[in-house]
Amino acid sequence: MATRSFDTTGRPALRALGATGAAWPRRLALFLVVCTSTFASLPQPARAADPTLPQYGPDKHEGVSSCDGSTCHGSAGPRNDRNVLQNEYVTWVEEDRHHTRAYKVLLNKDSLRISRNLGRKQKPHQDDLCLDCHADNPPKDKRRTENNAFQIEDGVGCEACHGGAERYLRPHDSGNTHAKNIELGLYPTDQPVARARLCLSCHFGNRQKFVDHRLMGAGHPRQSFELALFSILQPYHWEPDEDYTKRGKQAPNDIKIWAIGQAVAVDEVLDAMLDPKRNRMGLFPELVLYDCHACHHPIDKKQDWQPRQSTGLGPGVARLNDASFLMLMQALRVVDAGAAEKLRKDLRALHQAASEGRGDAQALATSVRADIARLLPKLEAWRVDKAALRKLSKAILDEAMSGEYTDYAGSEQAAMALQTIVYNYLIEGLIDDATYDSIEGRELSKLLATVQDPDRFDPNGAKAAFKQLQTRLAGR
Ligand code: HEC
Ligand code: HEC
Ligand code: HEC
Ligand code: HEC
Repeated sequence: MATRSFDTTGRPALRALGATGAAWPRRLALFLVVCTSTFASLPQPARAADPTLPQYGPDKHEGVSSCDGSTCHGSAGPRNDRNVLQNEYVTWVEEDRHHTRAYKVLLNKDSLRISRNLGRKQKPHQDDLCLDCHADNPPKDKRRTENNAFQIEDGVGCEACHGGAERYLRPHDSGNTHAKNIELGLYPTDQPVARARLCLSCHFGNRQKFVDHRLMGAGHPRQSFELALFSILQPYHWEPDEDYTKRGKQAPNDIKIWAIGQAVAVDEVLDAMLDPKRNRMGLFPELVLYDCHACHHPIDKKQDWQPRQSTGLGPGVARLNDASFLMLMQALRVVDAGAAEKLRKDLRALHQAASEGRGDAQALATSVRADIARLLPKLEAWRVDKAALRKLSKAILDEAMSGEYTDYAGSEQAAMALQTIVYNYLIEGLIDDATYDSIEGRELSKLLATVQDPDRFDPNGAKAAFKQLQTRLAGR
């Protein structure tokens, strides 16, 4: 399925679909129509406890060279005679360029400067601090050294996501069920919660690795992630077709992936707030958990500070970056209105605890995490139909009008969400091809352009763009 036509250099989420006006992968759209309508009604398999991430699993990593055989995953083009496409390696090398070059980035000037600024003793390409996210970096004794099979230079290779292949490599192509492969060490990338934990482990961080404000201060780019969009942009090298679900794999739709991605992102932020190794920077709390622009803005001109009702905070106070909370809340308004209201209240209390020291931030973080654990199965069971899509876009756009997305990160996440939602309007037949093209070319690209550069973000401009999209979608 050659669905990816756009350029993914730079900030793909915003650039590929926004400023350049490039099209969404249309064949993917047609394909998803088939698979959502056929399989959406299948019961979702029960979710097990969070599996161990590939980097920390018990199995040896066999190296990309063990996957790329032409009769395995290294076929030049997609093949139809087996369950999987078999050209995954070629897709990864040619189109998943960010992951394939992730290690090489550590050799460049930017990386050397970051590392020097931090006073690191090792070079970045030998430093676990960097390799943990810029490569598949299991412990040394978990790497297949025979025939130089495992190469750290491969960057974020197959097993960084799919798990060390020591036990599943031989048997996995001989009719094993998905469950059997998982038992043998395959990571369940099809399960949205597990996938979110995996991607966020590098795209936000976890207890073992984290891009903190020191790393950003040293020159590391800020992290920005949205699971549904990034899954598409990675790009897809799989086809959730009939045999896919028959083998016992989950094929959730984009909106469900988005919602679960937001829930897990909130959970990870809260975990960082609770983690004594990550939640402090000397006298300060860890600053990456806060809205960057709360501190980073010019001071020599009058600022037009705007209140955000939901936070209850006044001017001159650094706010938490609550973008994922804001998105999760909108998903919950469709799935469980009571839980949405509770999250709104808890978020307000969390803001006041984290910024003004009123209340117990740790206790709140713990209780919101417990709520999320209860809500995840609900999100997993969510059937995203036409009515749900309409409700969701209305909820997000109403919230934009009430001034809740005046922080850059909030607007950025809302814009990415709307991009996925409008695309799903097309998939669900709420709009036709021509309308989709026109919305994408006008309202959507205008909106995406307003969040393209965090340093030039104008909340009023973004609000006007949300308004235009709202008008355009009204009644659809
Ligand atoms: C927690 C995971 C994590 C850690 C730790 C980490 N990085 Fe990154 N790094 C990322 C991710 C994810 C991106 C892509 C960010 C984006 O654009 O969304 C990135 C981007 C970069 C970029 C920009 C890449 C480009 O294509 O322009 C450089 C340079 C970089 N990292 C260097 C380093 C160095 C040097 C270290 C160690 C001192 C390091 N990183 C540690 C996850 C990490
Ligand atoms: C950044 C993470 C990541 C990397 C790197 C990655 N994959 Fe995947 N892969 C995924 C995700 C996510 C899926 C979709 C969920 C699923 O099918 O498990 C997937 C699906 C697959 C599938 C399943 C297709 C099916 O129909 O069941 C195969 C096969 C596969 N990948 C092979 C590879 C190979 C080979 C490589 C390396 C050349 C690779 N992947 C690299 C994340 C990754
Ligand atoms: C082992 C760490 C790791 C894992 C796991 C991982 N990524 Fe990444 N990813 C990176 C790094 C590092 C970069 C940036 C590399 C660069 O720009 O040179 C990146 C870049 C990307 C980009 C391009 C982003 C940009 O700003 O240009 C996308 C899209 C992406 N990842 C999607 C995913 C998805 C989806 C998953 C989960 C299925 C995932 N990644 C899992 C480390 C990881
Ligand atoms: C609570 C205030 C605060 C927040 C929130 C904050 N920063 Fe900072 N940032 C600072 C301070 C203070 C410095 C140090 C300035 C100096 O060295 O002169 C700094 C320095 C930096 C630098 C180095 C720039 C330079 O010229 O020295 C970067 C880059 C940076 N921050 C990025 C970010 C990003 C990205 C975020 C959001 C994820 C963020 N900051 C959130 C206060 C903050």
